[in-house]
Amino acid sequence: MERFHHIKKVINNDENLVKRFTRFFELETIKFDSFAKENVYYLDFPLWLAEMVDAGQLSAQQASILNKKEVLQKFNEETVKRLASLLEGKSVKDSERAIDQLLHFEPEVYNVWNFPNCNPLFGTDGYPGRIPGQIVQNVLYYYTNENDLVVDPMAGGGTIIDVCKLMNRRYLAYDIKPIEKDGITEHDIRNGFPDKTKGCDLIFLDPPYHNMVFDFFETVDDFYSFISKLAQNCYNTVKENGVVSLLMGNTNWKGDGFQDLSFQCYKLFIDAGFIPIMRIAVPFITEQFERFDVERAKKEKEMLGLVRDLIIFKKV
Ligand SMILES: C[S@@+](CC[C@H](N)C(=O)[O-])C[C@H]1O[C@@H](n2cnc3c(N)ncnc32)[C@H](O)[C@@H]1O
Repeated sequence: MERFHHIKKVINNDENLVKRFTRFFELETIKFDSFAKENVYYLDFPLWLAEMVDAGQLSAQQASILNKKEVLQKFNEETVKRLASLLEGKSVKDSERAIDQLLHFEPEVYNVWNFPNCNPLFGTDGYPGRIPGQIVQNVLYYYTNENDLVVDPMAGGGTIIDVCKLMNRRYLAYDIKPIEKDGITEHDIRNGFPDKTKGCDLIFLDPPYHNMVFDFFETVDDFYSFISKLAQNCYNTVKENGVVSLLMGNTNWKGDGFQDLSFQCYKLFIDAGFIPIMRIAVPFITEQFERFDVERAKKEKEMLGLVRDLIIFKKV
């Protein structure tokens, strides 16, 4: 009964809700109090949002973006809370785009994933090599469960962290040059995985490839020996039946011609003891090339690379 009075108070405080509910109960024969009991969360939501605004965790505009029937239908209470905390500090425009994308998010059913842009909720704006968080969302959807431990040893702008927070996975994220973001620890993966990663459920690998690869490796052989050691270390770290996902593009190595990095890496992971369980095409978008690149490539009979693979391995 106390709850019922509380709900009534909430509704009375919100003019729009009063109108909506009055109209609704005129049309429906069900009793208000039985309805209210079953829908406490829905009725409480505007009040909870108002509290978040008072606490400075959401702006009033962000609260109104979240205050939608679709949000409550798509996400449970815990997820909405995590979502709200991820919105902290985001602009209204980015918040709108992020929520819109999440409302439309469905796991990819085919093994070709096209993501033309990054969900603003995940990762760091302008970080070189930032990937769309939608890639991580799908990997975690297919290969992990809530509370699983996910490790990203080359976390860059921390896309993995934001997706793990939303999807309620535990995470450990490292980078050789960590940016200032909570949760990324400085660590050079060439020295192996930190002890506390042992027995993790999934390792997400997004190493330097494409043009970034040249910032880290002198020769293509240096790159392959890095991946070979990484594959062995992954094998010794991930739990039995655990999963490793590797995102890898191909490259034209310093003018020495096409290097099929993903194909070579695929072999190195098998050598380390893994079995491949899925290969997904995650192409780059054409917009990354300037008109000038396109014209030059045509003239010089050189194809521009959009192929990128996401290879999923299992330790058996
Ligand atoms: C492609 S970026 C990762 C981008 C990230 N997934 C994101 O969405 O922001 C590759 C990252 O690997 C890191 N890296 C390169 N060599 C490393 C090493 N030996 N140990 C740890 N991190 C390394 C780089 O600093 C870079 O941030």
